[in-house]
Formats: sequence, C-alpha cells, structure tokens
Amino acid sequence: MDNLSLIDPEASRCLKNELNRQENTIELIASENFVYNSILKAQGSIFTNKYAEGYPGERYHGGCENIDCIESMAIERACKLFNADHANVQPHSGVNANLAAYMALLEPGDTILGMNLSHGGHLSHGSKVSITGEYYNSIIYGVREDDERIDFAEIEEKATKHQPELIIAGASAYSREIDFKKFREIADKVGSKLMVDMAHIAGLVAAGEHLNPVPYADVVTSTSTKTLRGARGGFILTKDKWAEKIDKAVFPGVQGGPIVQNIFAKAITFKIAATEVFKKYQQQICLNTNYLAELLDDAGLRIVSGGTDNHLFLVDLCPWNLTGERAEEILNEIGITVNKNLIPYDQKSPKVTSGIRIGTAAVTSRGFGQEDIKKLADIIIEALRIEADNKTSDKTKQKELKAEVKELCLKNPLYLSPLENELIEDYIK
Ligand SMILES: Cc1ncc(COP(=O)(O)O)c(C=O)c1O
Repeated sequence: MDNLSLIDPEASRCLKNELNRQENTIELIASENFVYNSILKAQGSIFTNKYAEGYPGERYHGGCENIDCIESMAIERACKLFNADHANVQPHSGVNANLAAYMALLEPGDTILGMNLSHGGHLSHGSKVSITGEYYNSIIYGVREDDERIDFAEIEEKATKHQPELIIAGASAYSREIDFKKFREIADKVGSKLMVDMAHIAGLVAAGEHLNPVPYADVVTSTSTKTLRGARGGFILTKDKWAEKIDKAVFPGVQGGPIVQNIFAKAITFKIAATEVFKKYQQQICLNTNYLAELLDDAGLRIVSGGTDNHLFLVDLCPWNLTGERAEEILNEIGITVNKNLIPYDQKSPKVTSGIRIGTAAVTSRGFGQEDIKKLADIIIEALRIEADNKTSDKTKQKELKAEVKELCLKNPLYLSPLENELIEDYIK
C-alpha cells in the first residue's frame, strides 16, 4: 500500500480510478493530451513549496536563485522555439494569458473583434458569458456558410466598420490552417493590434506543421497543454515593444505569485518540443487526424469544412439524424471520450448540438498509428450506426465494442510507452 492510500484512502481511490479510466479508455477530446513522465515529475516537484512574486532578478521574496534559473531557462527556450523577442511563462492558464494580453493592449470598453464561439472561437475571445465580453465591446466574425472557412471578407468589413483596437485570431474548434498574414494585413489596414491565441496548435507551430503566428502578431498567447503536450498552464510571446506592458499585466495585473512547478514543467516542455522526436510526433498527429476524418467521411458522416489541416475536426451528425449530445453518450458508454460541439450555423442548442469534436493528439501520444486509427474508426462508425438505424441501444453489440476499445488500449499502453524510450534516446544522441 502506498503512502497516499494510508493517509487518505478516499482521495487515493479517486486517483486510482482516474488512472484506470485514462489507461483503459480512448481519449479523443481535442484539448487533452498525456504528458511525458518528466512533466508529471516536474509538476509534483518541491518547486511547489516556493513563492516567487516578480521576475528573474527582481523578486519580492528571498531565496529565488533556483527559480530565477528555471524561469530564465523557460523564457529562453520559449523564445528560441517560437522565434519570439520576449516570453512570459507565468500565466496560470490560457484564459489568464488572454486576460493579461488584453490588459496590456487595451483599455476597458475598447472594441475587440474575435471569432464567434459557435463557429469555433473561444469563450475568452469576447463571449458575453466571459469577463472579456463584459469589459470590452465585443464584435464577432465567423466562417462562411458554404465552405465553413474563416470569412476574411467579413473580418475586413467589420474591422472597417467598428475600428477595433484589437483583432483576435485563434480558435478552439477550427480544423483549417489559419492565415495569420491575412489577419495582419487587415489589422494594418484599420490600425488595429493583432493577438493570436495559438493554444490548440502550439505543438504544430513548434514543429513547423502550422504557420508560426509570431512574425505577424503583436502578442501571441497559448496554453502549454494540448498539442504542445505540457502541463496545465499558459504563456505569452511578444515583440520587444510590448514586453514590459505584458510582464506588468501578468504580475501584478492579473496574477500573484507564479506556480513555480508549472514553470519548471514549461521549461522541460519547450526543450522536448524542439526535438526531432516531437516533430515526428506532430506529423503523426496530422496523419492520424486526416485519416480518421477520411474514414468517417467515407462512412457517410459529414466532416465540417470537408477535412482537416491540424489535430482536430468536427463531425456533423445530421446526415445520420443524431445529436452531438447523444453521440457523446453512446461513445462514452463504450469507452471513447469525445465532446459534443456546435457546428457552424448549428440549428441546435449548445447543450444538444449537431456535432462532435474529435482530436488525435492524445491517442497519438499513446502510440496509435494508422492501423489503430482504422480500428478506432470502425468502432465509432458501428456504435453510431446502431443508434442511427435502431434508435435503441444494442447491449450485446455495445459490450463487444467496449471490449474492442479495451483491446486497442492494451495494445497501446499509456504509461511506460515506447515513446518515452524513444525520447530518452533522442537526448542521448
Ligand atoms: C483557443 C483557446 N484559448 C484558451 C483556452 C483556455 O485555456 P485554459 O483552460 O488553460 O484557461 C482554450 C482552452 O481550451 C482554448 O482552446
């Protein structure tokens, strides 16, 4: 029996159950991933004991020499990885990074132009239910109805009409490469600043699999999770011009002391993201996503915008007369985790939805290749088809599919996976 189960058996049970869930179910939520062992260790390290308000060399607490070392390392690595002038690695999360960016770039009441939440944008880009929609005058743009791609004509028209202080690019549920150069051109035309939230695609950007927003944006925000495969947390990249304002906005603007063990984990994340193994991993994510989307499309489901250029895609379930809510439940019952998601111009409510969002960063981390993706697609198609055809659950078939999911998980175990070894070898070389 380990220490935790002696000290707190109830809490320990939750951890064991979660380990079991992660090991034995297939994770397709596009914002999730499985971090490397080194990141898990960093998160649980003694850096958690330290308070370190301020920045390297300018702290409000004593004894920060080792924190200064690790934070400077994280900053340097982030700048090198993304080719940025300046990095702030203290934001506790993606939303905090965005709040700090707004505080640095805007005055309360300023106009911001961000992507419509129901077309794939994020809550923190000006949604009315977020503080960002409350403090700023939020205008939204979306995707075109015919091809479901970002509508740059609409952005230009709205930017010209509303003269926003800030245009925001970046999304949570958009499967196509984003043309940051076009965003910059529009921002320059109307004299607006440009922020890019690259939270979802940061890993792809680091690996050169997606256009880097850094040369085009005044400020780039991100999480260290998702495709970047680090621990929970955020960071900001800026041009020198904005560095001081951004640092002040993060601390003392929107945060107190940084979560030092997160900064430790971010430093490691940025180092791993610069390796060849990481690049291959990102390429495999794109191959897996594309292949899974193709297989679902071949089966008669509709892929929003007709495909994907990144780690995720949206499935329109209307051709099979299913809702996102029901599909999420059916897949959950057999051990596949997805989230229901609005599709552009959805007729259903956000609680019901016509779609699901699927991402393959997590399954690729556990070693899924094309053969596994084919099996996974067959399972998803069968589970959804039974429901679409019968509108009742077939318990025997459900059991069989659940067993197939378990088999795929056993074939690609999560912990002590070959990827860890591969990574270690990469360091040794
Ligand atoms: C584009 C984007 N920005 C910001 C966030 C928020 O990140 P966090 O949950 O770390 O605050 C998300 C989360 O999924 C996101 O998709």
